[in-house]
Amino acid sequence: MDLITHIYAAARTNLQRIVLPEAAEERTLRAADIAIAEGLAHLILLGNPAEIRTQAARLFLKNIEKATIIDPNDNPKAQEYADLLYNLRKSKGLTPEEAQTLVKNPLYLACLMIKNGDADGEVAGANNTTGNVLRPAFQIIKTKPNVSVVSGAMLVFSKYTSYGENGLLIFADCAVNPEPTAEELAQIAVCTGETARCIAQFEPRIALLSFSTKGSAKGELVDKVVRATELARQAAPDLLIDGELQADAALVPEVSRRKAPDSPIAGQANVLVLPDLQTGNIAYKLVQRLGGAEAVGPILQGLAAPVNDLSRGCSTEDIVKMIAITATQAQSK
Ligand code: ACO
Repeated sequence: MDLITHIYAAARTNLQRIVLPEAAEERTLRAADIAIAEGLAHLILLGNPAEIRTQAARLFLKNIEKATIIDPNDNPKAQEYADLLYNLRKSKGLTPEEAQTLVKNPLYLACLMIKNGDADGEVAGANNTTGNVLRPAFQIIKTKPNVSVVSGAMLVFSKYTSYGENGLLIFADCAVNPEPTAEELAQIAVCTGETARCIAQFEPRIALLSFSTKGSAKGELVDKVVRATELARQAAPDLLIDGELQADAALVPEVSRRKAPDSPIAGQANVLVLPDLQTGNIAYKLVQRLGGAEAVGPILQGLAAPVNDLSRGCSTEDIVKMIAITATQAQSK
């Protein structure tokens, strides 16, 4: 069974309530219809009910009638959510009036529903930027205990099965933190190890990547990766972690034997931690476009409850996959 089929099967075992704030958007509505037909989740659609039903009828989406539809502009729980938001954000200067306006924003409403126990996870971003999806999640759902930084992991399915875990690798951070500190990089490494275990179903061998392998180059950028490796090992002694490594030393056993003969991951890394967002985001897109790999994600890791951000270029199939992944994350929470 391939990983995505396994994730779908796992999602079906214990249905989670996944909220879609951009429900009237065509790819999202089509994905909701498929996810309901496949039995992946109970879906909560945010938007104008008449508009959603008209759109569903136009697209012949028969399963949408099984979803719960909530109108952000006519919501019986609006005051309850506004009070919750005000209490969470008053120390940051939010007024009760601003809270009442924000609960009509579907991206805020989705996070408030999760915080209030009315939903288990969210998928959004087909129409909204990463920043607009992430900000309410950071403000309302916040990070899980012992984590201060949320990051984004990509599942990368390479056709070259000698790499990673039979061709599957996880790259992080590809989505959130432009310039992580050593402490943040260490957290990203540990969180990605957890994602490997929970979502990708393999035991992680984590490489913190650099342009240097074991002191072959010097400088502040290399020092940061060395420090992050030490901190990650201290934080998670049960994980197999090595750095600083160049990508070839991390991935190719013969190169590792020459450049990093004592490496505990011996050129067999299946989790690649990139040093910043420029490299993380560029690396996965190059592997996808030039190397023909399939990339699934970003899967946000470190939040207290799952919220996942889509690329605005996503397909219906991408959204279905993210619904199933979000449901699986919600189950393991
Ligand atoms: N983890 C946890 N919390 C965070 C993080 C983080 N990584 N970053 C910010 N926060 C929190 C802050 O602590 C703050 O909380 P508070 O208001 O309770 O004090 C809140 O979020 C807002 O913080 P700001 O510093 O104001 O964050 P800002 O809104 O400016 O930026 C954002 C956050 C939008 C995520 C920014 O880091 C960003 O734009 N990152 C790049 C996203 C991107 O464009 N990615 C590439 C596309 S994705 C793709 O291609 C796969």
